[in-house]
Amino acid sequence: MRFETKIVRAGIQPDPTTGSIVPPIYQTATYVLPEVGRDLGFDYTRAANPTRQVLEDNLAAIEGGKFGVMFASGMSTADSCLKLLNSGDHVICTDDVYGGVSRLYNKVLSRYGLEFSYVDTCDASAVEAAIRRNTRMLWIETPTNPLLKVMDLEAMGRIARAHGLLYAVDSTFATPVFLKPLQFGADLVMHSTTKYLSGHNQLIGGVVITDREDLYADLKFVQKTIGAVPSPFDCWLTLLGLKTLHLRMKRHGESGQRVAEFLEDHPKVARVVYPGLPSHPQHATARAQMDGYSGMISFELTGGIEAGKTLMNHVKLCGLAESLGAVETMITHPATMTHVEVPREDRLARGLTDGLVRLSVGIEDVEDIVEDLDQALSRA
Ligand SMILES: Cc1ncc(COP(=O)(O)O)c(C=O)c1O
Repeated sequence: MRFETKIVRAGIQPDPTTGSIVPPIYQTATYVLPEVGRDLGFDYTRAANPTRQVLEDNLAAIEGGKFGVMFASGMSTADSCLKLLNSGDHVICTDDVYGGVSRLYNKVLSRYGLEFSYVDTCDASAVEAAIRRNTRMLWIETPTNPLLKVMDLEAMGRIARAHGLLYAVDSTFATPVFLKPLQFGADLVMHSTTKYLSGHNQLIGGVVITDREDLYADLKFVQKTIGAVPSPFDCWLTLLGLKTLHLRMKRHGESGQRVAEFLEDHPKVARVVYPGLPSHPQHATARAQMDGYSGMISFELTGGIEAGKTLMNHVKLCGLAESLGAVETMITHPATMTHVEVPREDRLARGLTDGLVRLSVGIEDVEDIVEDLDQALSRA
């Protein structure tokens, strides 16, 4: 099966009892056993559910891996991956990792004896230098949220192998349409399925995919033991969204490029960060390992914080929203929205400047998106 056929069909069979082409929503908590000691493959939905199973098989096939494990959110996916470690273990993590993940690491998991170092994982020598006697995991996010840094996954894979580290990649921004981290040696690939994979701002979810049977067994154990599982209905909605993943991503990528080029030429914009632009610091890496650049753009307004507020208050088509990766275009100004409570010094130290804007380009007519940004920028 070719890649785009897998998206529509892999792991999905007509329902054996009715022939329904769409997998049914098995909205049940429990299953009746035919006799003591024998079930029909399912006993309790926290452990396994047929709708979830179809989704896990479909996502594993799309990612090019053997096993998928679904969780109730991207965050519970990250948390569950970290449950593979033990107290006292050390993790090296991309410095510009999604803020929710660093909050999980710093405020929750560090209380249980895990140690974290945040490193510029674009720099292999910085990663090597951060390795300690107790380092067990390399956690890479590429492209990053929100600064869109791109990592060389093959180089990171070499380091992980040489030092026996578990190699995890958060590939939420790229999706398997544009990047397949397992091909570069990743042990675990995770996605917030809230974003492009489900694609319609309709649910919260997460998945991890692996080729390793031992890790799959451990993750299944964590899944059923902790119980952070998605509802059968959310799994079904994700399956529905996934059917058009390749079509949506092609459009997100084409429109992302057009909007990035428009912004790069705009006098009110000081800098545009988009992996598809030759000006992106890791454009060569992105070109070599990705098949497209997705719909996420970050840009810096010349007018700083006031310009950011004005832009946010004057866009009409672009929605002021904290999420990303859906059919609707969404815009975020970290300084006044997602990071408004972070002290300015700390925010600046993380590269989140006053005029930084993050844009998730949707699949509307791209000229409507450009026109909306243009009219709002003229006031900023
Ligand atoms: C790159 C990345 N990873 C993980 C997450 C967390 O996912 P969720 O919101 O589904 O818990 C997000 C959310 O924005 C994200 O952008």
